[in-house]
Amino acid sequence: MRRDFVANVSHEIKTPLTSIKGYVETLLSGAINEPRTSMRFLEKIERNSERLSNLVQDLLSLARIEATEETLKLTATDWCEVITSVIARNEDVITQKSLRVKVSGISTPQLVMGDREAMTQVLDNLLTNAIKYTPEGGRVSVVLSAKGAQTRLEVEDTGIGIPPEHLDRIFERFYRVDKARSRELGGTGLGLSIVKHLAAAMGGDVQVESSVGIGSKFTVRLQVAT
Ligand SMILES: Nc1ncnc2c1ncn2[C@@H]1O[C@H](COP(=O)(O)OP(=O)(O)OP(=O)(O)O)[C@@H](O)[C@H]1O
Ligand SMILES: [Mg+2]
Repeated sequence: MRRDFVANVSHEIKTPLTSIKGYVETLLSGAINEPRTSMRFLEKIERNSERLSNLVQDLLSLARIEATEETLKLTATDWCEVITSVIARNEDVITQKSLRVKVSGISTPQLVMGDREAMTQVLDNLLTNAIKYTPEGGRVSVVLSAKGAQTRLEVEDTGIGIPPEHLDRIFERFYRVDKARSRELGGTGLGLSIVKHLAAAMGGDVQVESSVGIGSKFTVRLQVAT
């Protein structure tokens, strides 16, 4: 497992780094004197640097989660507050993509046994995916409900969907359905593995249903606080 992980990480780091190095060398050996080419190369360098920085961020949260997994302090935490703040912090991208976001079930507090930081990360990852993998003008809904001792948080989108043969694997580290496409969108394939880890660490779980071309729905279940 560990050796696989190191090999994967090295590959993920090497690819953008090789490309940055290549563009810099070409610029240094003369291309810098052609403004149009320089601009194009600099943009590529910028994009690859962003990729590297996303990767490092994801790796840091993965490391943090692994270190704190057993020690997550679960306290009564209001899902509704987390939902409101995560949506607010994604407002800009939502507007940019002309997405309609519908939220329901948050008019009264819904206390669960959880960790605020972890819940924020869970929802933020699911919401950024919904936004990323839904074409402009689409719809995203966030629905909170409770049944007995359990709460369900559903994040549903009208996006590209996930082919059935990939559904089992998307929660694995570095797994992406379409590597080229996801990479273009700045993805490293760590988001859902973090979600799964965190949900489990809070005594809950995460599930997915999806249809290609129709959309996806991720459901997070956590225990109601007693
Ligand atoms: N809402 C969604 N609609 C369609 N495909 C999705 C959705 N959420 C996840 N996927 C697929 O599952 C893969 C894994 O998702 P994950 O969040 O782990 O990685 P990522 O978004 O590619 O990168 P990142 O590490 O930045 O989150 C994605 O690459 C994508 O192929
Ligand atoms: Mg993601």
